[in-house]
Order: sequence, then structure tokens, then C-alpha cells
Amino acid sequence: MKYKRLGLIVAFCFASWLVLAFVIFNENSAKKNYVETRKGSLLKYIQELELQISQQEATYKLLVEKLEKLEPRPENVLHTLELKEPSGSESRTSSLAIKQDEVQKQGVVLPVLVFSCNRPDIRRSLDGLLKYRPDAKKFPIIVSQDCAHGATAKVIRSYSDASQVTYIQQPDQSEPIVPPGEAKFKGYFKIARHYLFGLSQIFRTFNYTAVIIVEDDLDVAPDFFSYFASTYQLLQNDPTLWCVSAWNDNGKASLVDMQHGSQILYRSDFFPGLGWMITKELWDELEPKWPKSYWDDWMRRPEQRKDRACLRPEISRTRTFGKIGVSNGMFFDKHLKYIKLNEMPVDFSKQNMSQLVQTAYDADYIRHVYSLPVVSATDVRTNVNLPFEGPVRIMYHTKDTFKNAAKLLGLMDDFKSGVPRTGYHGVVSVFLNGRRVYLAPHSNWKGYDLTWS
Ligand code: UD1
Ligand code: MN
Repeated sequence: MKYKRLGLIVAFCFASWLVLAFVIFNENSAKKNYVETRKGSLLKYIQELELQISQQEATYKLLVEKLEKLEPRPENVLHTLELKEPSGSESRTSSLAIKQDEVQKQGVVLPVLVFSCNRPDIRRSLDGLLKYRPDAKKFPIIVSQDCAHGATAKVIRSYSDASQVTYIQQPDQSEPIVPPGEAKFKGYFKIARHYLFGLSQIFRTFNYTAVIIVEDDLDVAPDFFSYFASTYQLLQNDPTLWCVSAWNDNGKASLVDMQHGSQILYRSDFFPGLGWMITKELWDELEPKWPKSYWDDWMRRPEQRKDRACLRPEISRTRTFGKIGVSNGMFFDKHLKYIKLNEMPVDFSKQNMSQLVQTAYDADYIRHVYSLPVVSATDVRTNVNLPFEGPVRIMYHTKDTFKNAAKLLGLMDDFKSGVPRTGYHGVVSVFLNGRRVYLAPHSNWKGYDLTWS
């Protein structure tokens, strides 16, 4: 009996000890977990803070630059002149006219926004931009980096430390929410999110009135800046234009006039991207409905394009070297790597652009195309059954006749929202075997067919 009681007491003590040990141990590990989580979230918090600080720093740097620029602004000079000189005097009007001219010449500031992620090769793009940039004040370069890739960040920082570029970072590095079945396209969701961030920085934070957008795998031609500076007024003044692009989708050496084509510009219903300029007004319109992914194809839809055109050159002022990228070199080996960069620089400020305004262009260009003799794509390709020189027209009626002719001649044969690449009123212009060739729809064409793809 005695032993039984003793046994019970021992068992009770043991059980109490077990319970106590469990409680203490549990508390310790909970504490440990708590400390770990705190440590984790603290680290995250610090990283976020760092990011915010670097953002702020970039913003302030840009604001200071802007303030510095304010001082000798021609408008201010004009104002002082007005106060000092007696009104009505001839000298005043003429000097004012000269100053006005300077204002016009100096024009608007056109920032270049470079989108970056994980390509340390961005060095190649930045070196190109810096090499040909004629004026650092007129064309400030802002690099926006996504992906928080260390090696790329280091490269960009080397340029921002030398005050050659302003460096901003896309703060949202969370995994984007991607609908089922689109997991492999996640990259496109990240790009669209980054564009929204970068463009709203340009227009909302830095308050610019226009922007030139490039990506980190683009080379630029020597006259890249001249092209954008000189087409800006046209973009502002012609409401039927919504962008200027440096890219010709059919810009292979075999399809453009390499000898005399450098100064030729076109209107295009196909949004080309790849080195392009827009104004703040357009961003005001697009920002509220900016898509979660595939931003470029979204731009090409009629709801966005609203029948507006872009300018594009005969010979590209950009070229891509990014074979490995989000779209995994889909078109790279077949098309993109053959696009020729313009080598004969044009001073576009000396070019007359008035024929590119919609009313003039539509009357002249379209009438010209439909006045030309109709030939077959095979004739153009073989170049034997054409006993005459000069421009010709190849007529297409259906999606398939377009595609067949395009394939035969080596042009891109796809459509986006029914529009063929570089098409204007359905007309695609190329230069083949020494002659201008227009691939044009039949003459009672009524508009793009959205089902053509
Ligand atoms: C293609 C287009 C590109 C377009 C993109 C989205 C061509 C030759 N390129 O991209 O113009 O913007 O589809 O529809 O047609 N990037 C990020 N975050 C990422 C990944 C990439 O910001 O997570 C940036 C890159 O730095 C680059 C741009 O997005 O500036 C395009 O990325 P890239 O890898 O070059 O994809 P493409 O296949 O060329
Ligand atoms: Mn690319």
C-alpha cells in the first residue's frame, strides 16, 4: 500500500515535470520563432526603406537639376527684356523675335526612359545613347530597373555615380498574380507593371511633357535624337498621331532603300514600339486603364489606338541585340537580327515634315499608291516580267493573299488587331530589287478586319 502511494507520488511528480518541461520548451521555441519572424520582417522593412530612400534621392536629384535649369530659361530672359526695353521700338521686336526663335529651337525637354531588369549588357545601350546624345539637358536619361538584379544594378550605378543617368528602381518586387494557364507568361505581367511605374514616374513625379522610351537591349543610330527632337512638334500638333517610333518592322537591308532612304518617314497604323515617343496627354489617357500584361498588343487594339497613327522611318534608328529575353527570341533569328540601323545620319531639323500631317499625307500618299501599275508578288520577286522601272503595287484581297505575298517577299506576315506590320490604310511599303513596292488592299477597302491574325 505504502509502495503503491509512493509510486503514485513519483508518477505524479514525473508527469508534472513533463508538463512543466513541455510548457517551458514550447515557450522558448515560440519566442525563438517570434524573434526569427521579427528579424525577417525587420530586414524586409529595412530593404523597403532603403528602396524608398534611393527613390527619394533620385527624385530630389532630378528636381535640383530642374531648378538649376530654371535660372537661364529663355522665358525668363524674354520677361526681363520686355521690362527693360521701351515698348514699340524696333530693336525690341527684333530681339524678341530672336529670343522666341531660341525658345522654339531649344524646345521641350525630352527625357529618355530606359527600362532595365537583369541585363548587365545595358552598358551597351547606355554607351550608345551617351555617345550620340547632343545635349544632356534636353535629353536627360532615366534608367528604371525592375528585378533587383545585383550585377545590373552595379552597372547602372556606375553611370548614375558619374551623373550620366538618373537611376530609379521599381519598388514592387512581389510575384504578379497571373491567371491560370498564363504562368509561363509571367514576364509579360512584370514588364507591364514596370512600364506603369516608369511612365508614371516620368509624368507624375518628374513632370515631363513627353518621353522617349527605350529598352535595355537597344542600339540607337547616330541621328536617333535628331529624329525625335524634330518630330516632336508634329506629334504635338497632329491629333491623329499618337506616337513616333524609331523602328521599322520590315527594316531588313533587303527591304529598305539603303542608298536614298535615310530621310524617308511614314505614317503607320501599326504601333511599332522599340524606341518610341509619346506625350503626357497620351499617358493621361492610358494610365487609368493600363493593362496587367502584354502592354504592346493592348496598345494595338482599336479601343486604345482610336485610329491614330505613329511615325516611323524607312531605315530603323534602333536595333535590338536582346536575343535572350522574355519572349525567348521568338522572332530574333528569323527577323529581328536582320533589321538595319541607319548609317547615314540625317539632320531632321532641316527636313520639311509638313507632308506627314494627316490631311496632306492621306491625299498624296494614298493617291500615289493607287495610281501605280498592279503587278504580282512573283513578278516582283523574280524581277523578270517587269519591263519597266519605278514603283509598283501588289494588290491583296484576303488575309491569305497578303500572307502569301509577304512570305514570298520576305516581309513580316502577321497582323495585330487586323493591322499588318507597318501598314497604313492597309498599305505596306518596302523597297525590293531597286524598286519601291506597295502591298496594298483592293481599292474599295473599308478598314481593318479584326479577325485577320
Ligand atoms: C517583347 C518586346 C518588348 C515589349 C515586351 C512586352 C520585342 C523585340 N520586344 O519583349 O518591346 O516591352 O515584349 O510585351 O518585340 N523587363 C522588366 N521586367 C522583367 C523582365 C523584363 O522590366 O521582369 C524589361 C527589360 O529590361 C526590357 C523589357 O522589359 O527593357 C523587355 O524585356 P525583354 O526581355 O527584352 O523581352 P522581349 O522579348 O524583347
Ligand atoms: Mn527585348
